[in-house]
Amino acid sequence: MVLDALIRIKNEIDSTLTFRRSCREGICGSCSMNMDGRNGLACTTAIEDMKGDVQITPLPHMEVVKDLVPDLNRIYAQYRMIEISCTDMINLVNTAERVALTEYSDIDLQVEKLYWRSGATELATGKKTLTLQQFEEKYMPSFKAMGMKYRDRNVRKIYLRHFQHSQPVIEALRELDVYANVLWPLAHLKAAGHYLKKATSEIKATGGTNWQKFLPPRFQKIMFFPELWSDLEKEEWGKAAFLSNPSEIVSKT
Ligand code: FES
Repeated sequence: MVLDALIRIKNEIDSTLTFRRSCREGICGSCSMNMDGRNGLACTTAIEDMKGDVQITPLPHMEVVKDLVPDLNRIYAQYRMIEISCTDMINLVNTAERVALTEYSDIDLQVEKLYWRSGATELATGKKTLTLQQFEEKYMPSFKAMGMKYRDRNVRKIYLRHFQHSQPVIEALRELDVYANVLWPLAHLKAAGHYLKKATSEIKATGGTNWQKFLPPRFQKIMFFPELWSDLEKEEWGKAAFLSNPSEIVSKT
């Protein structure tokens, strides 16, 4: 794979060469780069499929941190903005804190308790990682502004106002909820688990953060459209019974 070639170059020719990789099985996306003009994953792109000299560059249209490492913060921020435009901020608040708030609670309070802000906490110190601190410093004002802007016109609100009796819309929204809030976090977790199962000293290589508590959907129970799920489905969110046949669950309305 192209990633193996890069690792070899780093080990044997230029130790300063910088690139990202994590799962090495096409899940986490951290090895995304441009290879001979095509964007792809270095860990799943076979060298045999490429002809002649191969030109490798960082992903296009992104700021580059170093060599093949683009600044992914903008992508993460865009994903957070998608979440905010899909549902009310209250549905993105940490489960434990959600009961004390309502969807019309002060937006500053809700933003303060957004679920992902409790991730990336260092196990050793209990403090947020520097990466998260910098991310928050840069993007929190935009997230607050978006929260206000979409308070009454996010996808959930539009559904409640206009589409409560539309079966195709209900199915599409349930599907979105399952992909965004169960299957995607679990794919991410699988990549993280590759490291988390290793010895403690190696866990630190991932940043030594609280991934295990933060990533599994069964803990956070984030749902963009909670009214589309029964109590039992909410209870089973992200658990084995839910995952045995997600497509059946999506259409079981
Ligand atoms: S290292 Fe290639 S997708 Fe994770």
